[in-house]
Amino acid sequence: PTIKPWGGRFSEPTDAFVERFTASVDFDQRLYHHDINGSLAHAKMLAKVGVLSDEEYLAIQTGLEEIRADIAAGKFNWSVTLEDVHMNIEAALTDKIGITGKKLHTGRSRNDQIATDIRLYLRDEIDSIATELSRLQLGLIEVAQREASTIMPGFTHLQTAQPVTFGHHLLAWNEMLQRDYSRLMDCRKRVNQSPLGAAALAGTTYPIDRHYTAELLGFEAPTENSLDSVSDRDFAIEFGAFASLLMTHMSRFSDELVLWTSAQFNFIELPDRFCTGSSIMPQKKNPDVPELVRGKSGRVTGHLISLLMLMKSQPLAYNKDNQEDKEPLFDTIDTVKDCLKAYADMVPAIKARKEYMEEAALRGFSTATDLADYLVRKGMPFRDAHEVVGKSVAYGVAQNKDLSEMTLQELQQFSDTIEQDVFEVLTLIGSVSARDHIGGTAPKQVKAAAERAKALVAQR
Ligand code: ARG
Repeated sequence: PTIKPWGGRFSEPTDAFVERFTASVDFDQRLYHHDINGSLAHAKMLAKVGVLSDEEYLAIQTGLEEIRADIAAGKFNWSVTLEDVHMNIEAALTDKIGITGKKLHTGRSRNDQIATDIRLYLRDEIDSIATELSRLQLGLIEVAQREASTIMPGFTHLQTAQPVTFGHHLLAWNEMLQRDYSRLMDCRKRVNQSPLGAAALAGTTYPIDRHYTAELLGFEAPTENSLDSVSDRDFAIEFGAFASLLMTHMSRFSDELVLWTSAQFNFIELPDRFCTGSSIMPQKKNPDVPELVRGKSGRVTGHLISLLMLMKSQPLAYNKDNQEDKEPLFDTIDTVKDCLKAYADMVPAIKARKEYMEEAALRGFSTATDLADYLVRKGMPFRDAHEVVGKSVAYGVAQNKDLSEMTLQELQQFSDTIEQDVFEVLTLIGSVSARDHIGGTAPKQVKAAAERAKALVAQR
């Protein structure tokens, strides 16, 4: 017998470098739990259709469970010579239970085995990512509720645009996450299909029951085509696309958090436990967590591109290229989980500095549109109102005065349509409260939107 499970047709041992170069065990051992579950389902099915005896299945089951416990306890000796997680476990099984262990691979290939393993593994990770994403959303919605009436400047082009409520701004982030969640669930449907039984590429001559293994493993159904089953990794690419969008959104949040913690904005405070200091500048409190999340979005998108490039020129069916799917996929999962955890822990602790936000909203003529709308309500065409307010703003810039700080006489220089009641619309609270429709920034609308957002998370 040769050391390699496939050694029969070879006349010399594998080159030592090639052995290391082609091995995946260093990184695919993390699939052991799902690999064992896949093997158990396969063996149980073989017993059901009579390819294995019940005693053989029982021996395999006992052996695999012992191996699972050994690995979990750190007592398993992974061998590069045995290349990957599959052959390591299979060899250990034969060591444990003898010749019956050699029957496990009947009617199966590592090609359908690995395709099954990654789908099972990814499905579990999707579920834990979904839980963490929900936790982040709930935290975000909670802060939005608390800050439903807190006013800050809203920006376009990063220039003061119109006042908005802080709660409304946070709920904008939540909308992005809500769509990310639904993309994740959509991806899960296509992950949750069973390739087991496709064997190497063409199927197998044994009377296998693919519906049965699919059911045992909690898959929705067996996949339709054996060639496709062992070769495409589009489900992983789709997950990578979900993750890249999620991280792009988190990177946008991060960018704003970093900006807002600066002395120049001073809109929010992050708790000390989420920040770090400087080894030279004693005054520093740096927002490292958001900065890192922003930075890590780059590598996740990089992994998506890696997976796309990995797939794009592969002929059917399985090619060893596909072994390269694991590291980008695993790192994407790890990174997304870490970033979600950091944000789910940190976001509820964000403290709004309401005075500074409000003060900032008073600068930059944020209620100029309100003045124009006021004139329109008094009968002036919008374009003329725009012109009148533009002139008032130019005056304010020259005099260093906000619209709300001008006297009625000063304002009337630009239009005699302006009356005493104008000051109601020029206040910040008047401005935000007037945007009182679904999707608008009025505190009342923000509170209702937060309730709806919460209900969507609760019904998952
Ligand atoms: N380590 C391989 C992978 O990750 C498992 C499948 C290997 N199949 C093969 N025919 N060499 O894709």
